[in-house]
Formats: sequence, structure tokens, C-alpha cells
Amino acid sequence: MRNRTNMQIAMQLGAGFGIDSGAWRMPGGDPTAYTNMDSYVKLAQTAERGKIQMLFMADTPALGVDLTNRPPQSPMDPMLALTVIARETERIGLVATLSTTFNDPYNVARQFKALDVISHGRAGWNAVTTSNQAAAANFGSQVASRTERYERAHEFIQLVQALWGSWEEGAMTLDVEKGIYANMNKIKPINLGGKYLSSHGPLPIPPSEQGQPVIFQAGGGQEGLELAGLYASGVYASPYDIPSAKAYREMVRQSAVKFGRNPDEVKVLPGFIPSIASTEDEAIERRKQLDGYTDLTGKVSYLGAMLGVPLSFDDIDRPLSPELRKYAKANPQDPRSPRALELVMRGMTIRDVLAHGVINYHPVIAGTPEQVADFMEEWYVSGACDGFAIQPDASFDGVSDFVDYVIPILQKRGLFHKDYEGTTLREHMGVSYQYGLRL
Ligand SMILES: Cc1cc2nc3c(=O)[nH]c(=O)nc-3n(C[C@H](O)[C@H](O)[C@H](O)COP(=O)(O)O)c2cc1C
Repeated sequence: MRNRTNMQIAMQLGAGFGIDSGAWRMPGGDPTAYTNMDSYVKLAQTAERGKIQMLFMADTPALGVDLTNRPPQSPMDPMLALTVIARETERIGLVATLSTTFNDPYNVARQFKALDVISHGRAGWNAVTTSNQAAAANFGSQVASRTERYERAHEFIQLVQALWGSWEEGAMTLDVEKGIYANMNKIKPINLGGKYLSSHGPLPIPPSEQGQPVIFQAGGGQEGLELAGLYASGVYASPYDIPSAKAYREMVRQSAVKFGRNPDEVKVLPGFIPSIASTEDEAIERRKQLDGYTDLTGKVSYLGAMLGVPLSFDDIDRPLSPELRKYAKANPQDPRSPRALELVMRGMTIRDVLAHGVINYHPVIAGTPEQVADFMEEWYVSGACDGFAIQPDASFDGVSDFVDYVIPILQKRGLFHKDYEGTTLREHMGVSYQYGLRL
């Protein structure tokens, strides 16, 4: 029987605004949040007040969006942002994404272990292989084949873990009287190399309170599953419904077993977007307000493509004509389309259909705190996940509404802990201590 109170929640901070591209314009929000560390710190402290296990920062080393009408999607620099946050919080885990394709293991090992020591054992690294052309161009290269990216990722993660272990526990003697700072028999080179990468070591950083940072993974296919099964304690995933989430989680767990690990040590966290208000109607209004701050032209045509009918932005405030409704059908390749079709058939305007969040990357619940908690309970209890990577629609009030209204319901239902289990991210997640490579 799984520990029902151990639901894992990762709060995604992104560029400081929330997942909705109009969030930066919300009245009461901070349009400078991207560059204002005070805003990040406030969100982090709010999440910590809710006993949320970790903050999570996605990151791609490229601009990726046209900033004319919307802000960036990732923080200026996730490691620096989390270092600032580390000094202003005490318990919450700090997870950042860094690419194994566009970095070197030594730098990544050093940055994360330093963050882990600075934060007293709260760091996590989401290792991704990044298949983004704009990112590749920033490093003067092309996107490599999936095989190459994942072969390199294996070497990369192993080197990082070996470097983390290269300064052994107990190496730092700090014997002021005898003048012995450290025992060099316990700080040794690793001298490891592979097809793509190598490093000599050692890394000049001692263990943290959790030994070394916790590894996360987000990626696709069989290769991604292998990476998760071998190294990850947390997986950020993007299933859209319970059957696909269950199937994916089962594959991750089987991969862990294949590599001799306890499957309970790998927590699968699908992304989820809550839009919270006192009533469902108000939540839809909130989303419509957010939609009003962005250009929906692209979303309207995307919805049309999902349903196999041409839709025009000029018709956004009208229901689909009977003629179009006759031809509209759910795209079997897209798990989001049945719900889109259902709402269209109810005679909703295109704007209202979009406000229900039918074409977001992750599932959306626009509703009351109870409805949000119901969604989370259903997924969690049915074994579709071990928790969630929450993307608030707009963070400035979305994080506090989640903490103040949804968390107490989850706690009352016995799904979420009432306090941190310890002081480190490993303790919050209930994953084993690890130092160096897993042998
Ligand atoms: C849920 C999820 C989140 C991801 N987040 C990031 C990210 O923040 N930065 C990044 O560079 N890649 C990210 N990736 C991309 C993966 O690294 C990978 O490039 C992508 O899944 C496509 O390639 P693949 O299926 O060949 O792995 C993410 C992937 C998934 C599934």
C-alpha cells in the first residue's frame, strides 16, 4: 500500500509570471518579476509555507519566443535564481533543469553541488537532452540525433555523479591545531572518460547534508525511460489523461526494476495547470481575462486543426456554425481533442472553449479548490502519478491560492503531508541517500 500522505508537489516558477503568456499583465502582479528576485523569493516562501516539497525550474538555453507581447519562459539563470532563493528559504527543495547536451559535466557537477552545500542539501538537477534548434545554434551546433544525445547524457550523468563522489565523506578534517585542512587520501581524481566526454577531477566541493543533489529527468522515448530508470529519483512528465499517465508511470517503474532499483524511489510528476477561483464560472472568467492579454489567433487555428475544421479568429465570440459542427471530429492522435469537441458541441463560443484550457501542454482544471483537489486525488489514488509539477496560470496569486486553499484540502484528505519530513530534498521525497555513482 503506497504512503498516501506522501504526494509530491513541485511548484514551477518559470520566468516568474506563470504559464499563461498573458500572466505578466495581470493587475496586482509584478510585470518586472523576470528580473526581480524579490518576486521569486516571495513565491518560494509562499510555496514553503504550504510545505511544498520543491520548486522546479524548466530551462532551455535559448530565447525561444518573440518578446514583443510576452515575457520569456525560463528564468534569467535558474542556478542563480535558486541560489538567491536558497538564502531566503529553509526547507523547500530547489530543482533546476540543465541540459546534458549544451554543458560540460564538470561545470554542472560544480554548480549543483555548490547549490546543494549552500542550501544544506536541498538541490536537485533535472537532466534533459534538449532537442531545441535555437539552443543548438547558441552553441554553434545542430541538434544531434536522439541516439547521440542520450548516449552523451549517460556519460554526462555518470561523470557528474562520479565528480560529486570524488570528495569523500569525512575528507574535510579542519584540524586548526595541527593545521590539517583536509585528508587528500579522500579527495581523489576520477579519471573517467567515454565516447563523448571525460573529466579528471576531483571536484573541490564536500558532501552536503543529503550527500549529493537529487537527479530528475524529463524526456522522451525508450532512451528517456532508461535514463529515468538508471539515475532519476524524480521524473517530470507530460501525460494528458489517467490511462496514459498510468502506462507511463508503469514503464518508468519497470525501467527502475530492470536496473536493480526500487521503483518507489522514482517519483513520476506529471505537469498540471490549476486555475483557481471560488466558483467554476469565476475560474473560467479568470482564464478569459488572461486570454484577453494575449493574441489568441494561433490558438484559434490550433483548435481548428485539432478538430479538423477551419476556424477563424474573427469568429472567436461565436459558437461553431452547424455546418462546421457537422464536420468537427476529435483527432485520435491528440488526447485533448475529445474534450475540445465536447465543449464545441455544447454550443460554446470558441473563446469559451479555449478558456477551458483544452489546448494547453498539460491538463488544466479551471475551478474551485475542491475541483483542483479532486483532480489531484483521482490521478494520485489511481496510480497515475506520485505527485505533480504544478504550473500556476498566473503565479502572483496562483501560488498563494494553491497553498491557502488547495493544500489544506489535500491535507485533510490525508493525501499530502502536514510538515516536511526532514531538512533535505531527499528526506522530503523519501528517496535514499546516495553519494557518488550508484555501484
Ligand atoms: C515534460 C518535459 C519537460 C521538458 N523540459 C525541458 C526543459 O526544461 N529544457 C530542455 O532543454 N528540454 C526539456 N525537455 C526536452 C527533452 O530534453 C527532450 O529534448 C524532448 O523530450 C524531445 O526529445 P526526445 O524525445 O528525443 O528526448 C522536456 C521534456 C519533457 C517531456
